[in-house]
Amino acid sequence: MRTQVAIIGGGPAGMLLSEMLHRAGVHSVVLEQRSRAYVLSRIRAGVLEQGTVDVLRANGLGERMDREGHAHDGMKIVWGSSDSFFIDVYKHLGKRFVAYGQTNIQEDLFAAADQREATVLTEAEDVQPMDVTSERPYVTFKYRDEAIRLDCDFIAGCDGFHGVSRKTIPQGVLREFEKVYPFGWLGVLSETPPLPDIVYANHPRGFALASMRNERLSRYYLQVPLDTKIEDWSDDRFWSELQVRFPRELADAVITGASIEKSIAPLRSFVAEPMSHGRLFLAGDAAHIVPPTGAKGLNLAVSDVFYLSRAMAAFYERGSTSLLDGYSAMALRRVWSSVRTSWYLTNLLHRFPAASEFDQRAQEYELTYLKSSHHAQAALAEQYAGLPFEEAV
Ligand code: APR
Ligand code: PHB
Repeated sequence: MRTQVAIIGGGPAGMLLSEMLHRAGVHSVVLEQRSRAYVLSRIRAGVLEQGTVDVLRANGLGERMDREGHAHDGMKIVWGSSDSFFIDVYKHLGKRFVAYGQTNIQEDLFAAADQREATVLTEAEDVQPMDVTSERPYVTFKYRDEAIRLDCDFIAGCDGFHGVSRKTIPQGVLREFEKVYPFGWLGVLSETPPLPDIVYANHPRGFALASMRNERLSRYYLQVPLDTKIEDWSDDRFWSELQVRFPRELADAVITGASIEKSIAPLRSFVAEPMSHGRLFLAGDAAHIVPPTGAKGLNLAVSDVFYLSRAMAAFYERGSTSLLDGYSAMALRRVWSSVRTSWYLTNLLHRFPAASEFDQRAQEYELTYLKSSHHAQAALAEQYAGLPFEEAV
């Protein structure tokens, strides 16, 4: 088989890259190890930055998002019995967010791929990028018991944190930066009307978050110890713990109901540098992980893909390699900005088991300062909104 770009991984990064390359007249093949049903069953965050919304719209993926998504201006932070402030991204930057689940985006991407009869091979096994530093890289894999070699010009590693692509970059070349947090998030999806705002709560019993998917679907999270067992968390226990962690007025406004999904995720920050090696280019979770605080993961996958598709299009249109050469550095500037913001929000809002009384006081006074300072709120709003995409130079 032959294609221009072999894309490993059919998550949001891989599928969006395939769509954007197609629109630039570049052919790709997507190799995904799981089934389509499995990929579509994953529940992930769902807060889209304005830049992400713009990219999806510009690529024909905005229709259902604009119909079903829920636009909002920022998020609320609450602590103590009634202290709060609102990070008003719209007021400070004129940008909005849209709450729209990653699961829906994944469905929209598959629908678009079906429409253009894209080659998306699911349940592809033993996918292996080969000769990535040569002019003629290729990918080997097994598909329906047949061993296949896919020749290509470039390989895009969009295969998530546990994928094979990053592992093919030699040890002496790759640098990894990691922070693992001493707690996880227990998430619940419920068919109940959400609170009007996304609310982040810092409480002595741990962090809590109220979010939404649409007018009838809510998403809530609780900070929990890493050894938490999901069987120990009945819906009743979840709702009462959530209500304890919110100030009275908000707790009373939460509409509870049966959960339709419940899961636990550990929290980690991770960045791999560089994001390219020869003709292999990493995008999305293959290169970086953020803790969910701030919901930046999907937004970073989209900005990587925006830069990478533009660079590949420039190569095919004009034979220019300068954007490809600069891809890693450009993508990493935005990655580190959001990695830093997610780490900051994680530190600001969670209770760390090993925190000293000093640490605790410093955290409280950081919240007090944010509440009182217009400038501090503007700076946080700018970071939370996500940096604008850089021009091609
Ligand atoms: N061969 C083929 N496919 C693979 C392999 C492999 N060896 N390893 C992993 N994959 C597939 C996974 O099955 C998955 O479908 O790559 C895909 C990667 O998708 P995601 O993990 O969703 O990563 P990405 O597309 O970068 O999207 C980032 O996902 O984790 C969230 O917060 C994150 O929202 C962000 C988004
Ligand atoms: C979500 O809606 O799933 C969500 C919202 C905000 C976050 C993380 C997750 O910070």
